[in-house]
Amino acid sequence: METAWWKEAVVYQIYPRSFMDSNADGIGDLKGITSRLDYLKELGIDVIWLSPVYQSPNDDNGYDISDYRAIMQEFGTMADFDEMLAGIHARGMKLVMDLVVNHTSDEHAWFVESRKSRENPYRDYYIWREGKDGGAPNNWGSWFSGSAWQYDGRTDMYYLHLFSKKQPDLNWDNPKVREEVFSMMNWWCEKGIDGFRMDVISLISKKPGLPDGDVAPGALYGDSGCANGPRVHEYLQEMNRAVLSRYDLMTVGECAGVTVEEAKKYASLNGKELNMVFQFEHVELCDGPLGKWTDRRVDLKAFKQVMSKWQTELAGKAWNSLFLENHDQPRSVSRFGNDDPQYRAVCAKMLATCLHMMQGTPYVYQGEELGMTNCPFRTLEDFRDIESLNAFQELTQAGKAAPEEIMGYLRLRGRDNARTPMQWDDSENAGFTAGTPWIMVNPNYRQINAKKELADPDSVFHYYQKLIALRKQEKIMVYGTYALLEPDSGSLYVYTRTLGTKTLLVICNFTKEEVPYSVPEEYADAKVLIGNYTRSYAQGNITLKPYEALVLKCG
Ligand code: GLC
Ligand code: CA
Repeated sequence: METAWWKEAVVYQIYPRSFMDSNADGIGDLKGITSRLDYLKELGIDVIWLSPVYQSPNDDNGYDISDYRAIMQEFGTMADFDEMLAGIHARGMKLVMDLVVNHTSDEHAWFVESRKSRENPYRDYYIWREGKDGGAPNNWGSWFSGSAWQYDGRTDMYYLHLFSKKQPDLNWDNPKVREEVFSMMNWWCEKGIDGFRMDVISLISKKPGLPDGDVAPGALYGDSGCANGPRVHEYLQEMNRAVLSRYDLMTVGECAGVTVEEAKKYASLNGKELNMVFQFEHVELCDGPLGKWTDRRVDLKAFKQVMSKWQTELAGKAWNSLFLENHDQPRSVSRFGNDDPQYRAVCAKMLATCLHMMQGTPYVYQGEELGMTNCPFRTLEDFRDIESLNAFQELTQAGKAAPEEIMGYLRLRGRDNARTPMQWDDSENAGFTAGTPWIMVNPNYRQINAKKELADPDSVFHYYQKLIALRKQEKIMVYGTYALLEPDSGSLYVYTRTLGTKTLLVICNFTKEEVPYSVPEEYADAKVLIGNYTRSYAQGNITLKPYEALVLKCG
């Protein structure tokens, strides 16, 4: 297989609002990030993916951009950005920027013009339609509740917004929009950034005629069916020619609704579009009748089946990205494991082992390397995320569930779980800010924080550090082929990686019970590469401890 730096890299995602506040206004910022670069270097990561830092009215925390070439005032200045980028490069790391171009903010100059009149030169930068039968042009629902259409009295028409009404969708069928986006991207590349994470890029090409979508049982709106639209690959190939192919970049597309077949096109190793995609099957596995708002737990067999499908089907054709957490997902140790203090650390290490030993580029989300957990939000007032707040209103008003039941779902699945401040130390506000944080700090920061973990050689942090360092030594972790063993076990996730004459056997116990396992003969002379308990060898019949992870290496 062809080698590439972005296949060998480990990426760390920063959600700037919650990472480090340098000026006591309670909001993380660029100077705060710069002050913590040594910490990231010590962890050993190669690439930082920065959630959006562009000018934004923050209806969706920066995913609603009003100026692509300016820095959000709360985060600092362009000079702060340049200083941060230089600091990243000086430490031999790279920077990947979030690229949010399915939509802009309604406060972006293009949209301000667009809504002025039907004849405005920017009108076709967005998607405007006449109403139908006194209502919206079609039955599409927004990701953030309600209709995907907003009526605008000034011109008596509706505009499309797949997300909040302050995030109007750009019209990618307009060549001028594509030109503007590509020139903005080139501008950032000229500044020396190293790649893009492309926000909901699978949604940019809308179906011609914008037909009504299917309404799932119990749903209030139709599905827009915008995922993997008819011209999305054409547009990405055009972007590749106009921008990506001109620089040595890492690119990852956030692809809601992507299938294995589609991923092979987006992330084909032929390099015509992107390097890799984020797929969501493994994090949507337990969705229920109210979509993500559920208390269902992920079933291990189903999880193994989905992960294995992506591992084997993309092998040799496209490249995987590996993640269990990001700013839109709950904390992985709470969700896939056990955040009870008795098991939390060992469980976080097991999940990390399970993920980092797979083929693909691993992503670590800020705080994941500490084993940070979901937050015990008390009332609705503790939540900040537009998705959770809107869902609560819509679901309670529609009588879909009792308010307390929905609150329970928000606590389990709400995106704010990932957005509480990074836990740096045990001082007030976890060392994140000297002011009042914009969102509550998880009260467990006195037990779980970076300072404490840096001082403890057995911490989750040092385990991640070891896993990341191993990836640099063991090419098999990057390039080896994957095979699932024990598909029917409901307790163990066991798989192998093979490269030439070398093999790895990865054994992960996903339960708090002791589980027997018999190590295959071929591994009789294997050595333990890494594990989360002290075990110097493993042969024949063994008993795995609660949440034990063990990697054996042969050859
Ligand atoms: C992506 C982002 C999410 C955002 C949405 C709209 O899914 O990751 O945070 O709300 O797109 O931009
Ligand atoms: Ca600040």
